[in-house]
Amino acid sequence: MQTIQELNTDFSQRAVVETANMDWETSEADGVLRKRLERIDAKPEPVTTIVRYQADSAFPAHQHIRGEEIYVLEGTFSDNHGNYEAGSYLRNPAGTTHSPFSKQGCTIFVKLQQFQASDVNQLQIQTKQQKWLPGLVPGLSVMPLHEHKNEHVALVKWEANTIFQPHQHIGGEEIFVLEGTFEDEFGSYPQGTWLRNPPNSFHTPFSKEGCVIYVKTGHLGDV
Ligand SMILES: [Fe+2]
Ligand SMILES: [Fe+2]
Repeated sequence: MQTIQELNTDFSQRAVVETANMDWETSEADGVLRKRLERIDAKPEPVTTIVRYQADSAFPAHQHIRGEEIYVLEGTFSDNHGNYEAGSYLRNPAGTTHSPFSKQGCTIFVKLQQFQASDVNQLQIQTKQQKWLPGLVPGLSVMPLHEHKNEHVALVKWEANTIFQPHQHIGGEEIFVLEGTFEDEFGSYPQGTWLRNPPNSFHTPFSKEGCVIYVKTGHLGDV
């Protein structure tokens, strides 16, 4: 029996990872590199990762036993079903299969084996073609991507010098900074930072520089 190296498994703890400072690790596929952010020893194994496909690389065909969520950060990610340019948001629910590859190379943010059992919608959204909606305060825009029970996923765009209201994350909050620098009273999070705020945590976020973030809320514990 092989034991895996678990990572950021305590969901009651805040986690902050500046992925730009991490080294790439090799994977089982030639030319496919990764930076792991969360990894839990379970079957199937839930893992949150940044994956880089070098040009003309491929990953073996596989099934997503508990679903796979992808945001394409740069380049073009492909599988046997289509090509997904930077800005694509994909949800492949439980039972789906594919053979991923990239011709020109790409970097993707992936959350694997983390779907709720009842979340069966397959999604392919090109966020660059979607409209931004006004957010709760001036300077903030929101693009809802997915909603299932307590779980919500959106992109949020902050104009420079936007301050949001203090708030609590009842079911936790997970953020990946796509552009610019996101901030709150606990720190400053440049592009590429992954942040996980535990259930019932509070903060008052802002952005001096402006930023675009991927945000998932409500998925981290008892609601
Ligand atoms: Fe996959
Ligand atoms: Fe928040």
